[in-house]
Amino acid sequence: MDALKAKSGLPETDAYIAGGYNGVVGMSSQFAAGICCGLLRIQTAAGVTGPVVEIGPFEGRFFIALAKSLAPGEIALGIDLFDWPNPQVQDRFIANCDKHGVPAERRIAWKTDSRKLAPEDLLAKLGGKRPRFIHIDGEHSRAALSADLERATAVLAPEGVIVLDDMLHPGYPTLMVSVHEYLERHPDMCVLAIIDRETIVAATKFVLCRKAWFKRYEDALLADYKDNVWPLGADFEPHWCLVLSLDTRLAAIT
Ligand SMILES: C[S@@+](CC[C@H](N)C(=O)[O-])C[C@H]1O[C@@H](n2cnc3c(N)ncnc32)[C@H](O)[C@@H]1O
Repeated sequence: MDALKAKSGLPETDAYIAGGYNGVVGMSSQFAAGICCGLLRIQTAAGVTGPVVEIGPFEGRFFIALAKSLAPGEIALGIDLFDWPNPQVQDRFIANCDKHGVPAERRIAWKTDSRKLAPEDLLAKLGGKRPRFIHIDGEHSRAALSADLERATAVLAPEGVIVLDDMLHPGYPTLMVSVHEYLERHPDMCVLAIIDRETIVAATKFVLCRKAWFKRYEDALLADYKDNVWPLGADFEPHWCLVLSLDTRLAAIT
């Protein structure tokens, strides 16, 4: 399967995803990066502006793709403990950003524990600008995901999206409980799309948005990624959403 089949449509971003991405140590898939950066392109075309935030950028693999997809004047904020597997991980993050064309004025590396951040801390770091895209890929416990989801929702722009990593991962089954509890607490939010995994490590992501923006974003994703649509979709009872995959086959019934 060709992981590069889903391109963002942004030439510099696609060159990085094809050429540099897998050389930056990290976990997110090229397929997910292509679609998420395509979503940033769709937002820009729709007049949606604002910074992007990643909780857990690690060495910068996915962060660089997001940052390269921003419109002029926008910035990317990476929040990480930057202590694993050693404290030099922050230096490697900065070196990777420099190497792949995300200059210092377009990025903020914030060495902190997301669990200790109040929404106002986050907004202050962003100069009061509400993010249009937040990728949550920090601590993979049920409690931490619930808390990261709450702080992300509190600061998100009205038209913003939240992307969750490692969904449906066999190693983290309780994360799905957090997501369902969150959706019950926030009936204005829904799952916009599921981005299928490439491998067990380069795992599935869920994209969330406010229901008021669902149709507009879904139409745009359908138009741009029709070859990646798995025909049956995902049933969130009663809400349905797109499943985007590199493998769009149905089970053979013989
Ligand atoms: C799986 S890695 C992220 C991989 C990266 N997003 C990618 O796609 O390549 C998880 C990161 O979350 C960070 N992390 C874990 N708990 C955190 C917390 N409470 N606050 C901030 N960062 C945290 C870790 O330090 C680690 O760098």
